[in-house]
Amino acid sequence: MANAKAKIAVLVSGGGTNLQALIDAQKSGILKSGSIELVVSNKKDAFALQRAAEAGIEAFALTKKSCGGQEGFEKRLIEEIDSRNIDLIVMAGFLSILSEDFTRHYDRRIINIHPALIPSFCGKGFYGLLVHEAALAKGVKVTGATVHYVNEIPDGGEIIMQKAVEVKDGDTPETLQRRVMEEAEWIILPAAAEKVCAEIIKERKGA
Ligand code: GRF
Repeated sequence: MANAKAKIAVLVSGGGTNLQALIDAQKSGILKSGSIELVVSNKKDAFALQRAAEAGIEAFALTKKSCGGQEGFEKRLIEEIDSRNIDLIVMAGFLSILSEDFTRHYDRRIINIHPALIPSFCGKGFYGLLVHEAALAKGVKVTGATVHYVNEIPDGGEIIMQKAVEVKDGDTPETLQRRVMEEAEWIILPAAAEKVCAEIIKERKGA
């Protein structure tokens, strides 16, 4: 069917609040050009897996240990993704590095949410709370979040969408992280996913 929705796989590692934002956006119609078909976590105990199950989305954990290392992990991940004809991979709080081979296999078909305004506070070693600790240490008055395409350079791909968030006096890394999630991440990730899925469908029609 020509105007079928783009199929989305979401990669997670933790609480899954960004996954939840995508699930809610699908329900509210903000995410209308894509359908979340699969959730894969690299951590067995990720609460994100429960969020997927509650939403009736196929979800499972795939660990490097169970796959015999990075190469086996990526091979399995590619098999699971390609066997479902996934069009877009969304990294939502996914904290595992993927190889250049993997990212090249899915050129402009992987997007990631980073909790800062790239090129600030990004790249190797900048993830989760560490990003907000660095922002507070630098004394920036504005931070935010970025959705970008994923390539072989950590947080190096083309920027798709950004949203700024005010840093407030007395902020701790935790209060700043929460504000960036609520006021930026949970808004621009669904919006960016919709934008990219709509482009994928348009490309497919034009093909
Ligand atoms: C968030 O800080 C997000 O920006 C980062 O991982 C953290 C947890 O995300 N990518 P989630 O709640 O698991 O979506």
